[in-house]
Amino acid sequence: VIAESETLPNIYASEPAKILGIRKHTAQEWSFSLAFNAEEEPGKFVMVSLPDTGEVPISISGFSKGAIELTVRKVGDVTSGLFTRAVGDSLSIRGPYGEGFPLEVFDGLPLLIVAGGSGVAAVKSLLDYYTNQEPMAVNSVDLVVGFRSPRHVLFRRELKAWEKCGSVVVTVDKTEDDDESWAGGIGFVVDYVKHVEGIGNETQVVLVGPPMMMTNTVRELRNNGVLEENIWLSFERHMQCGVGKCGHCRIRDKYVCLDGPVFNYVEARSLID
Ligand SMILES: Cc1cc2nc3c(=O)[nH]c(=O)nc-3n(C[C@H](O)[C@H](O)[C@H](O)COP(=O)(O)OP(=O)(O)OC[C@H]3O[C@@H](n4cnc5c(N)ncnc54)[C@H](O)[C@@H]3O)c2cc1C
Ligand code: FES
Repeated sequence: VIAESETLPNIYASEPAKILGIRKHTAQEWSFSLAFNAEEEPGKFVMVSLPDTGEVPISISGFSKGAIELTVRKVGDVTSGLFTRAVGDSLSIRGPYGEGFPLEVFDGLPLLIVAGGSGVAAVKSLLDYYTNQEPMAVNSVDLVVGFRSPRHVLFRRELKAWEKCGSVVVTVDKTEDDDESWAGGIGFVVDYVKHVEGIGNETQVVLVGPPMMMTNTVRELRNNGVLEENIWLSFERHMQCGVGKCGHCRIRDKYVCLDGPVFNYVEARSLID
């Protein structure tokens, strides 16, 4: 008799991925470069586990040969555990999972990416993808990204590189009292999207951030002629299995882990909190 466990692959099996480098953006946000093979598919995520602590979904923020990058915000048990790891240690990874960005839909069209705070981690691989492409498959890539304050700005180096693809607007909610050097915008991203040149019914939009920011930005985009079916949202929901088995991430008939995390707005408007 062959036990079932001997014939079926274990879909929850992780593999060790060595930490090749750590980039410390802020005390709360670090990027980990990991030895892990994955095809370049912007928008997908992996499950990262720590023994005796738990397992969390994290977007792949960068792809390179034989390595992926994960950008983590320290919020709780598992993410804090990751911040105790050092170069040379290994993390347990499984995936990649989920439906990424619909690259073929964007072909030949202007693309606008709007991201709030650490949400930029979820779109970084998409921005890198087009920056490294020659010629670029889309018409242009404009970015409006908002952070809490100048010290919370992530990926300063990449923000410069992404200007190759289109306009890059960086805005902060507020500056510190003693900070007069900030040359970017001040205010919420929603106040800046209408200033993006050429925005209209052809524009494809990728939107990542807290629910309130997404709701307000969708309203502003609609006021500026962007079609609902051209808006794509990337969601962060609590997950457990990551592969459509536990129902933890389910919102009505949708599984964020399987059907998302990227959804078209027409399908996802009811999923915004
Ligand atoms: C598809 C997907 C992609 C993600 N990509 C990234 C990423 O690139 N970088 C990153 O830092 N995080 C990302 N997250 C969020 C990340 O998974 C959570 O921050 C993580 O699960 C928290 O685990 P923890 O054990 O550290 O915190 P916990 O101890 O479980 O929780 C700490 C606090 O965070 C809250 N929390 C936990 N999970 C979430 C969540 N998913 N959304 C909102 N609040 C939550 C809890 O309610 C609690 O208040 C992603 C989530 C999803 C679903
Ligand atoms: S996380 Fe288990 S079904 Fe999506």
